[in-house]
Amino acid sequence: MSVLTVVGARPQFIKAAPVRAALARAGVAERLVHTGQHYDHAMSQVFFDELDIPPAEANLAVGSGGHGEQTGRMLALLESEMQAHRPGAVLVYGDTNSTLAGALAAAKLRIPVAHVEAGLRSFNRDMPEEINRVLTDHCSDLLFCPTDAAVANLRAEGVTGGVHQVGDTMYDVVLAFEKRAREKSTILKRLGLEEKGYLAATLHRPANVDDPKRLRAALAALAGCGRPVVLPVHPRTRARMEALPGWDPEGWGDLRFVDPLGYLDMLRLVSGAAKLVTDSGGLQKEAYFLGVPCVTVREETEWVETVEAGWNTLAGAAPDRLARAVAEFEPSGERPALYGRGDAADRIADILKTTLAA
Ligand code: UD1
Repeated sequence: MSVLTVVGARPQFIKAAPVRAALARAGVAERLVHTGQHYDHAMSQVFFDELDIPPAEANLAVGSGGHGEQTGRMLALLESEMQAHRPGAVLVYGDTNSTLAGALAAAKLRIPVAHVEAGLRSFNRDMPEEINRVLTDHCSDLLFCPTDAAVANLRAEGVTGGVHQVGDTMYDVVLAFEKRAREKSTILKRLGLEEKGYLAATLHRPANVDDPKRLRAALAALAGCGRPVVLPVHPRTRARMEALPGWDPEGWGDLRFVDPLGYLDMLRLVSGAAKLVTDSGGLQKEAYFLGVPCVTVREETEWVETVEAGWNTLAGAAPDRLARAVAEFEPSGERPALYGRGDAADRIADILKTTLAA
C-alpha cells in the first residue's frame, strides 16, 4: 500500500506538508518525488526545514524552461519513477506544471490519480494554471475539493465520481504553524515594521509581471499608497523588474523589495500587515484565515468565497483602480469557516488508505 506524491513548486510543499504527516500516521507509505521545478533554497528547501517535512525520496532536478519543455521533461522522468515503483496511487497538488505532468504520467500508466485542490476554476484560459487544473481533474480518480464552489464546478463539467469535499490543507498548516511564526519569526524587527503599520504585497503572475507597462503601473500604485509596503520578490518578478529600462530599486518611495521569504516569516509578515495586496492564490486564503483584508491584483479568483464573505476584493492591475482599492478597502464582519475544520490532511489520508485497501 503506497502512494507516490509529486511536488515541485513552492505552494505544493506547503499543501503537502500536513498530508505527508497524516499518511505516516495512517500507516500509508509515501514516496515523495520533487520534480525540481523550484530549486532555489528560498523557493524550496526552506519549506521542508520550517514545516518539518521529511526529505523527498527523489529529486528529478528538472529546473526552469518553457511550458512544453519543462512539462515534457517531467513527464518522461515521472513515468520512469512510476514504472520503477508501481505505487497504488499518485497524489498531485494544485495547478502547476508539476501537477499536470504527475497526473498525466500516472493516468497513462493506469495508476489511480488523486488530486488535492480539485475543482478550482478561474474560467480564464490565459492562465497556464487553469489549463493544468482542468486537465488534471479530468484524469483524476479521487478529487479532493477544498470548497463547495469547487464541488459545484466539477459537477458542472460532469465530474461526479470520486469527489470528496475535505477542506483545505493550507488551513491545516496555518492552524498548526501560526503560533510558531509569532514566536520564531523576526521579520517585523528585521525590517523595522510596526504591527498593522504597513502593507504586505506579492506579484508573480505572468499576466502582471511579464508586461513591463503593467508591472510598472502595479509597482507605482503600491509605492503611492502612503504607507510602507513590503514586497518579497519572486524570482520571475525580480528578473522582469531588473529588465525594466532605468530600473532603480531605491526609486519607489516606501515600497521595499526583499528576497523571497520562508513560510514562518511570510505568515508573520501577512498576519502583522494592515492589508495584503497579491496575485497569489494561496495568500488570498491565508489572509482570510488570519483576518487580514486582501486586495487581489487580478480580475477573477478561484477563491470566490473570500470575496463573497467580504474580505477579498478584485482590483485588477489598472493603477487608479488598484490604488483606490488599496486605500479604501476596509472589510469587517464575520469570517465563516469556509475551508473546513483544519483536518483536511487526515481526511485525505483516511480516504486514500481505504481506497488503496479496496
Ligand atoms: C509556478 C506555477 C504557479 C505558482 C508558482 C508559485 C506553473 C505553470 N506555474 O510559477 O502556478 O503560483 O510556481 O511560485 O507551474 N526561478 C528561479 N528559481 C526557482 C524557481 C524559478 O529563479 O527556484 C525562476 C526561473 O527564472 C523561472 C521562473 O522563475 O524561469 C519561473 O519559474 P516557473 O517554475 O516556470 O514558474 P513560476 O512563475 O514560479
